[in-house]
Amino acid sequence: MKTRLGILFGGMSSEHEVSLVSAYGVITNVDRDKFDVTPIGITKDGKWYLFTGGVEKIKDGSWCDGEDVKELAVDPAPRGANFLVIEEGAVRERLTLDVVFPVLHGANGEDGTVQGLLEMAGVPFVGPDHTSSGVCMDKAFTKRIVKESGAAAQARAVILTKNDERESARREIEKLGYPVFVKPARAGSSVGVTKVKTPEALDEALERAFREDGKILVEEFIEGREIEVAVMETAGEVVASVPGEIDPGFEFYDYDTKYQNDTASYYIPARLDKAVEDEVRERAVRIFKALDCRTLSRVDFFVKADGSVVFNEINTIPGFTPISMYPKLFMQSGMSYSDVITALAESAMKKER
Ligand SMILES: Nc1ncnc2c1ncn2[C@@H]1O[C@H](COP(=O)(O)OP(=O)(O)O)[C@@H](O)[C@H]1O
Ligand SMILES: [Mg+2]
Repeated sequence: MKTRLGILFGGMSSEHEVSLVSAYGVITNVDRDKFDVTPIGITKDGKWYLFTGGVEKIKDGSWCDGEDVKELAVDPAPRGANFLVIEEGAVRERLTLDVVFPVLHGANGEDGTVQGLLEMAGVPFVGPDHTSSGVCMDKAFTKRIVKESGAAAQARAVILTKNDERESARREIEKLGYPVFVKPARAGSSVGVTKVKTPEALDEALERAFREDGKILVEEFIEGREIEVAVMETAGEVVASVPGEIDPGFEFYDYDTKYQNDTASYYIPARLDKAVEDEVRERAVRIFKALDCRTLSRVDFFVKADGSVVFNEINTIPGFTPISMYPKLFMQSGMSYSDVITALAESAMKKER
C-alpha cells in the first residue's frame, strides 16, 4: 500500500507565497509509486482546505478561488482519521494521513504551532517537534542555546522588545559599531531585515522590524561569505550535506534578491578549503543536535576572510523548490529531488515521538 502523504501549503505567514512555490515543487516531484498525495492549503487568514484542483493553481496562488476546495478541520484527538472534510457544515469524510509534510515557512507553520497540533493528533510529520521548531524560529532563543552549546561563534547582538526602554538599548547598540543588522526575532525570508549604516537610520529600521514581531535583534555586521548546510536525520543518524554558498551580488541577501531578481550567484559546493568545509559541516550537525532538531533543518553560516566560521540562523523548514539550497545540496551527493522527499517522509514516520 502506498503511504498517504499530506502536504500542507500556504499558511498565515509573510512567507505564504514562498510556501506555494516550495509545495508546488514537492507535489510535482514526489514519488507517486510510493506516495498518495493529499494537498491541504491554508489561506492567509488561516482557513484549512482540502485542495482537489490542478497543481498549477498552487503555484499561481489561485488554488482557493474556485470550486477546487473543501473545508477541512483537524480533530486533535489521537484516534486516527484526524482530517475531517466538511461540507455544508457537516463532516462528510474522515481522512487518515500516514505522514504530513508541512511545507510552510515562517509564522504559524515553521514555528511549532502546526507541529503541536499534529503531535496532539498523533500524526507523524517532517521536521522538528513543536518545542524545537519554536526555539529555532526565534533567533533570540536560538542564539542562547547555540551559545551555551559552544557549537559555533555568533554575531554579538542586542535583543529588544517593543516595550523596552529605548535609550539604554541605543547605548548597547552603539557598542556594536555600525553597520548593524536589524531583524525580527521570528520572521524569515529577510522580511523586516535592514542593514543600518548610520545611527540616524536606526529608528526607522527598528520600527520596520517591530512591524513583523514584538521582539527583534540588532546584530553586529559580519563580513563574510554566506554558507548553508543541509542537515538530514535518517535512521537516527544525522548527516550534513556539502556546504553551499550564496553571493547575493547585492548589499545583502534580502527578500527581492531571494525571490524577485537574479543578482545572486550560487555555488554548490561552496568555494571553501577542505578544512573549513569539514568544520562547517561538523558545526552544522552540532547545532542541529543542540537544538534537538529532527528530520531536517538548514543551518546557515558566515565564513570570514580568515576562514573563521560564524553561525547565523537555522531554518527547520527551509525553502524547498527544486532549485532551493536544501534539496540541491543533497542532490549534489547523488540523491534526486524526489529521493530527498522520500527520505524525509520515511524518516518522519520512523522516529519515535
Ligand atoms: N549579522 C549579520 N551580518 C551580515 N549580514 C547579515 C547579518 N544578519 C543578517 N544578514 C544578512 O541578512 C540576510 C537575512 O538575515 P537572516 O538572519 O538570515 O534572516 P532570515 O530568517 O530572514 O533569512 C542574511 O542572509 C544576510 O545576507
Ligand atoms: Mg536567512
